[in-house]
Amino acid sequence: MSRKVLAFAASNSSVSINRQLVEYAASLIDDAEVETLDIHDYEMPIYRHDREEAGGIPQLAHQFLARVGEADMLLISFAEHNGLYSAAFKNLFDWCSRIGRNVWQNKPMVLLATSHGPGGAARVLKLAEEAFPIFGGEVRGTLSVPLFGEAFDSDAGVLRNPEQVAELKALLAKL
Ligand SMILES: Cc1cc2nc3c(=O)[nH]c(=O)nc-3n(C[C@H](O)[C@H](O)[C@H](O)COP(=O)(O)O)c2cc1C
Repeated sequence: MSRKVLAFAASNSSVSINRQLVEYAASLIDDAEVETLDIHDYEMPIYRHDREEAGGIPQLAHQFLARVGEADMLLISFAEHNGLYSAAFKNLFDWCSRIGRNVWQNKPMVLLATSHGPGGAARVLKLAEEAFPIFGGEVRGTLSVPLFGEAFDSDAGVLRNPEQVAELKALLAKL
């Protein structure tokens, strides 16, 4: 049976460069059934203690965790907003963490990040790499792709640099 990969961008942009990257990365995994998810479909009101007290945790958070639970492995690519997670992702993560600490359910995962700048969203990637093991994420490796516009051929949907492709394939082999 093929392995089930859940791939998503930690961005709610309809033109997300991280979605392009994560979908490309998922396509490189052999013998995999890839499911992609749009976190925009899991948009909830901003986490607030009083909101949780009054109405509990929204069903969408439970549904997101169920999608994670059905996967054998995760591929996530992070948008960096002011050095941090996008608010869209952070809010989803916050609500999910109120259900329990094992948000990532001991799934092996590879974490990616890209931006148009030379920093390649490496700051948010480091944050996630350090934080996710606390939440049940088995992080097998990370890759930041700087200068997305140059690094990625959006028409073909592929990374241009063979060395970067090899690096990514080596990471994915750890899943
Ligand atoms: C509010 C805001 C803050 C941003 N901060 C950063 C940043 O700290 N570092 C960075 O490399 N890019 C930053 N950017 C640019 C994003 O990397 C860029 O919008 C990128 O397309 C986001 O990824 P996405 O297309 O997958 O959503 C920021 C963009 C916005 C809207």
